[in-house]
Amino acid sequence: MQATVPAGLDEKEAEIYGRLDPARLPKHIAIIMDGNGRWARKRHLPRVAGHRAGVTSVRYVVECASRIGIPSLTLYAFSEENWKRRPKAEVDFLMQLLGRYLKQEVPTLHKNNVRLQYIGRLHELPTGVQEKMEWARKELARNSGMVLTLALNYSARSEIVDAFKSVVRAATSNGGIEHLKIDEDTISQHLYTSHLPDPDLVIRTSGEMRLSNFLLWQLAYAEIYVTPTLWPEFRGTHLLEGIADYQKRDRRYGGLNDSHSAPAPAVASRGASRAGRS
Ligand code: FPP
Repeated sequence: MQATVPAGLDEKEAEIYGRLDPARLPKHIAIIMDGNGRWARKRHLPRVAGHRAGVTSVRYVVECASRIGIPSLTLYAFSEENWKRRPKAEVDFLMQLLGRYLKQEVPTLHKNNVRLQYIGRLHELPTGVQEKMEWARKELARNSGMVLTLALNYSARSEIVDAFKSVVRAATSNGGIEHLKIDEDTISQHLYTSHLPDPDLVIRTSGEMRLSNFLLWQLAYAEIYVTPTLWPEFRGTHLLEGIADYQKRDRRYGGLNDSHSAPAPAVASRGASRAGRS
């Protein structure tokens, strides 16, 4: 089927989009942005120059994703481990960059009808950054388009720990834990991502084949796309190539493919069949 090309795509993006089936776009894409440091090193620049260039990629990718109608995009910006294992000067720079990004990008995000959310142990971020985050979130809260979620001071294992604490807290204030029933939906509802369906597609840049403690629960059935492109070079065309690759996959959710069985259930979001591994 020939897709109508959404407004705003450039010629190369439109060409790749033309190969996609618009009815089967992922509902949620998660991206592990990696390779800023290597990009800078290749150019004999300080690491922070890579992070600065990475912000430009964020801008392009967010615009492209919202233009083609992706409902949710989640970007892994800073992991909890980043705080502990990177020099303070780099962490401080990343914080400044985030503050500047939020201030500068709100008008463009608005123009693209994007909403903004955050996941992670946000209360541990510097107070000034938290204030800017809250300001940007509120500015965009009435939009109705793509939900852009930034993972900041994020760790999937910490998220699961926090979810368990939240389940127990909720039960305690709601009749006591002796009545507590825990199933997969209970846990999903207490994760930071309770506002989102599980990702259909996770993209990692710079060729690394790891999940790096990112959305470990939510990615159970996601398709994984690893590209050698370093994050500062990643553009809308790369995103669209990732989606094209995703559309070639046979998503089985633990079942058999169509030639052997009934079609897989429509389980693109949370609660995707937990029938078994595939
Ligand atoms: C990984 O590259 C990237 C990060 C740790 C930070 C990601 C931050 C940005 C893309 C810019 C800021 C984002 C927002 C939303 C304002 P790396 O430094 O680990 O690269 P390397 O593995 O090549 O050293």
